[in-house]
Amino acid sequence: MHYMSGNQTFTMIKPIAVKNNKIGPILKMINEAGFRIKAMKFTHLTKQQACEFYAVHTDKYFFEDLTSFMSSGPIVAAILEKENAVADYRKLIGATDPAKAEEGTIRKLYAESMSHNAVHGSDSDENACIEGDFFFSKMERF
Ligand code: CMP
Repeated sequence: MHYMSGNQTFTMIKPIAVKNNKIGPILKMINEAGFRIKAMKFTHLTKQQACEFYAVHTDKYFFEDLTSFMSSGPIVAAILEKENAVADYRKLIGATDPAKAEEGTIRKLYAESMSHNAVHGSDSDENACIEGDFFFSKMERF
């Protein structure tokens, strides 16, 4: 682990949101909600990397759909910092299923479906560390 847990989370702006030119609007919402960007990269996952990132979902029926989609185009990966980062970011992005996401959340605004749901957000401090480490080395965090 490279940082204290509790005040950081990890996000990806998924291929659908990048394709729809929503990087700017989403980063604006992230900043306006009080998050600081500690690390960020514009990148494109291979299918194998997407499978590795989502390895906990290997046995799920949506695994193939999810990993094909996540490797279908560029993404933005970022580490975000704020008190209570994991829970507050999940509030900002809204429910995994955009049909259930609250008004004004990132997914309500920009998601198309459950797998094309615009952004990823870590679900625990432990996963925030693991996922941040997947994309960023120590010297890439500020
Ligand atoms: P994410 O936050 O990136 O973490 C796992 C992803 O799996 C989730 O967002 C969704 O995109 C996807 N996912 C979860 N449940 C389903 C589902 N029932 N059908 C399709 N995709 C799903």
